[in-house]
Amino acid sequence: MVIFLIIGGSASQKLAAKVAKELGDVLCPLETKKFPDGERYVRVKGELDKEVTIVQSTGFPQDENLVELLFLIQTLKDLGVEKVKVVVPYLGYGRQELRFKEGECISAQIVANLIENSGADEFISINLHEDSVRDFFNIPSANLSAMPPIAEYIAEVTEDPIIIAPDKGALGFAEEIAEILDCKCTYMTKVRLGPDKVETTIAEIESDDGSKVSIDAVNGKEAVIIDDIIATGGTIVNAIGILKENGAKSVNVCCVHPVLVNDAVLKIYAAGAKDLAATDSLKSDVSSITVAKVIADDLR
Ligand code: R5P
Repeated sequence: MVIFLIIGGSASQKLAAKVAKELGDVLCPLETKKFPDGERYVRVKGELDKEVTIVQSTGFPQDENLVELLFLIQTLKDLGVEKVKVVVPYLGYGRQELRFKEGECISAQIVANLIENSGADEFISINLHEDSVRDFFNIPSANLSAMPPIAEYIAEVTEDPIIIAPDKGALGFAEEIAEILDCKCTYMTKVRLGPDKVETTIAEIESDDGSKVSIDAVNGKEAVIIDDIIATGGTIVNAIGILKENGAKSVNVCCVHPVLVNDAVLKIYAAGAKDLAATDSLKSDVSSITVAKVIADDLR
């Protein structure tokens, strides 16, 4: 009898297969479909272990993928699984972790409650937009970093890179990669004027240890922009412009979660990016860096 340990929801089947391969685990066959009226149907087909891991990102279509995840968690519990680990590489609604304006719903908290109340015993994600989202869970949680495989990719495509954070929030990612690759990093300052409009300026910083440098350092260098999410691409387009103006030899773009709204990919290449690479936390044309090992290492 085959015992199944990993389940890939319809948003993350290939990634789940890769995680299962890394772990030498068996991937459970799953039937998911939509009824003619749009409602989701889920059927777990196989004998399950006492501990099962679900891999399912909740990106677009967010509501459907979330509902499928909740169906899966509760169904596994109904079928007698004792421990359900839930890996959500990209957590949809994760960006609204606060009530920024009076009366707003704190959607990240509601989603966390839904996942936990469906029966999840452990929650694992990758580069949550804010680590504080984990505080909404009462079950053990992890916020893994995709920077090691991204750094590996950068090492393959550049010889002497400088890592650029397109806003201060991304500086931690740039620092993590710069440390792995033993290279320099710097950041820009961004103000968001609306959902699809940002203003970016150069952040003039200089630190004693030389690890963070001013924008002048990009002159003649292979600049690599790193961000957690690319949505409309506005943030990246602005950063590419500044890097080109300051003499960067080339500009590569990397991100963890390729949300990629509308023509974001086109805009980024049109702005002069040499290449764009993202992780497979979300399926996309540019999801060439896998986070399977990052997830597998944590599950081990
Ligand atoms: C924001 O803080 C994030 O880190 C990204 O910079 C942002 O989501 C990118 O959005 P867009 O691609 O629409 O500029």
